[in-house]
Amino acid sequence: MTPEIINAILDWFGIHARALPWRKDATPYHVWLSEILLQQTRIAAVLVAYRRFLEHYPTVEDLANGDVATLMKLWEGLGYYSRARNLKKCAQVVTERGGFPRTAEELQMLPGIGPYTAGAIAAIAFNQPAVAVDGNVARVVSRLLGRTLSREATAEFLRPWLPAGKAGAFVQAWMELGELLCLPRGKPHCEECPLRAHCNALKANRTDELPAKPPRPARPVIKLTVFHLTSKDGRIALRKRPPTGLLAGLWEFPNCPGSLSAVQAKKWLEEQGFSVRNLATEPPTRHLFTHREWQMANFQATVSPESSLFLWATPDELENQYALPTAFRNPQGRRKAHGNKKLNP
Ligand code: ADE
Repeated sequence: MTPEIINAILDWFGIHARALPWRKDATPYHVWLSEILLQQTRIAAVLVAYRRFLEHYPTVEDLANGDVATLMKLWEGLGYYSRARNLKKCAQVVTERGGFPRTAEELQMLPGIGPYTAGAIAAIAFNQPAVAVDGNVARVVSRLLGRTLSREATAEFLRPWLPAGKAGAFVQAWMELGELLCLPRGKPHCEECPLRAHCNALKANRTDELPAKPPRPARPVIKLTVFHLTSKDGRIALRKRPPTGLLAGLWEFPNCPGSLSAVQAKKWLEEQGFSVRNLATEPPTRHLFTHREWQMANFQATVSPESSLFLWATPDELENQYALPTAFRNPQGRRKAHGNKKLNP
């Protein structure tokens, strides 16, 4: 690394930085919220969610005092719901202590804030000398050096080069370069890169090999059968998930383990006390979580009565009130149940 490289990336960032909403008014609350949203979520979805969150919760105190069901509804579709729970816990701690702490060490003590987010808030909101290394930064630095670095090693490598008073621009410049030009999976735009003259991966024609990927652990496949049940007056059956574990406390369509045939599905419904009309198979769906894959057989049916085992929501309530994880909200699901093969149960 050289001062020339630092200047090149900072100059590039000065010209090419995107006008992201949290950059205009980089308060600790705005930076924290944006960084939590940006974890594992595409930028287009984050932009929409960020605006929605600030409309509901203009300040960290509003978020601390908001109710969990509304927060989960706002979070719907973003996945990793523990982030939303931690968001509220963190907002409560920050409100109680009268504001966000300024250093990465103290920030890291807050719920849901790890080394990356702590560094990002300290550097971007407080201009404290902290680094923040996400996958993008590790990729840019690995290619620059021509060898694969872990996030920790990348942080150690960058730390001595933090420019005084410019930590916010410095950490964001590396992220931005990774997001706009130094793209993963062999697609970098090296011709536009401010670091191309210094890049070892480019020199060795190895940008598509670097950084080397660690082998992914196998994802266990879990099969289940999901029921889109409608009552005679058009209400939809929902069930609350258990308070702990995957997607804890969110709403779901009734479902059971295993991939049931239509005959077995009808039997299962009857065991729940339903009389079943128009049972239809819907196309199977799948959902990838970080640590497992769900493969879902789907059925739709009109049932009676509105059993007290379930909550019966109107379509409008389902849309606006109950947080339904993405795993259950896919195109073949509840919303579009046409074109299915009807069975005579
Ligand atoms: N990705 C996550 N946080 C970011 C930020 N502050 N700037 C650019 N990219 C990011």
